[in-house]
Amino acid sequence: MDENDRPAPPPGLRTRAVHAGTDAAQPFGSLTAPIVQTATYTFANTAELAAHMRGEVERLEYGRYGNPTQRAAEEKLAALDGAGDALLCASGMAAITTTLLALLRAGQHVVLTDDGYRRTRQLCRQVLARLGIEVSVVPADTAAIVAALRPETRVVMTESPTNPYLQIADIPALAAALAGHPAKLVVDATFATPVNQRPLAQGADLVIHSATKYLGGHNDLLAGVIAGPAPLVGAIRELQGVLGAVPDPHAAWLLVRGLKTLPLRVAAQNESALRVASALERHPRVARVWYPGLASHPQHALARELMTGFGGVVTFALDADLDATSRFIDAVRIFRIAPSLGGVEALIEQVALMSYFELTTEERLAIGIRDSLVRLSVGLEDPEDLERALLDALDTSA
Ligand SMILES: Cc1ncc(COP(=O)(O)O)c(C=O)c1O
Repeated sequence: MDENDRPAPPPGLRTRAVHAGTDAAQPFGSLTAPIVQTATYTFANTAELAAHMRGEVERLEYGRYGNPTQRAAEEKLAALDGAGDALLCASGMAAITTTLLALLRAGQHVVLTDDGYRRTRQLCRQVLARLGIEVSVVPADTAAIVAALRPETRVVMTESPTNPYLQIADIPALAAALAGHPAKLVVDATFATPVNQRPLAQGADLVIHSATKYLGGHNDLLAGVIAGPAPLVGAIRELQGVLGAVPDPHAAWLLVRGLKTLPLRVAAQNESALRVASALERHPRVARVWYPGLASHPQHALARELMTGFGGVVTFALDADLDATSRFIDAVRIFRIAPSLGGVEALIEQVALMSYFELTTEERLAIGIRDSLVRLSVGLEDPEDLERALLDALDTSA
């Protein structure tokens, strides 16, 4: 075989992040894919409209059914997750609601884990339950999930790593347990990103991300994505056209731009988070650190098996009460107090006050949220600055 006939090796993740979905010829010879900021698309004449309606001409029709900037983002996202197709939605929650409503009917059942984004639980317990869909919320471990399966279960949904305790779902074991069962395994891999883990290759049927977090990466857009086999994603896309939680073209463009640096950003955040987690674990005021990259994490071995990096979120508990924990947070430099994660700016939150403010200490403890729990999202600042900011605040706020 001639040297030039040899098939090119499949592009790596960084190459895909830069080029996938955006390499086609662009208007005006533009290097970057433009923002197609339109609500609708025109037809030259009635014959063209009729040909489109008969399915003879593939073209865009109306903004709720698709947009070229959205499509560029979707192709990039599908390439990163190794998926047949991807669907972009208005937010991470829009991705979750559209998926669950596409997969579930009255009389069917969904299994969900108790450690995870609170609004996903709320959606299942309050909204889906009202539609006659039964919900089991179980601990985030394989045995508990498998024990909750029923003949009418159609979705098993878990995060990995979970929010806020960073538990790791054993996706291959769950997929094996679901073999022959009609339930789809849906993994919210927002905290992992396609850089650290590819759940579809490990047996998940669908992967969901809040693209608001690492994928966008700059704390300036809201979006969500569902990736998986084209027929399944296509069915969810059909429902999106009805439910309407579509992304704005400008948000899709910001996402395309952010995705180009995703592998570099996540690699830096993995490294900084491990450094910060290790430093926190050594400090006498810190009662416990949860970070999958630490040997002390109960699922460290599983994390090493399934992930190539452990993410930029670090959760820890202080040896302190609610108010002393707040004093520590107020003393931390650089980290900004805000919900969300995954962007270039380091963020810090006292979980009890950010997400569970209305509950008493006892009520929070009953659902596993202690008052001294702190969640960090490590940004792209110098890791030594982030470490110093946290250690200084631990010392000065004592
Ligand atoms: C794991 C996880 N999934 C989904 C969401 C919802 O995403 P969005 O805020 O983009 O709707 C969040 C938001 O914090 C999250 O942490």
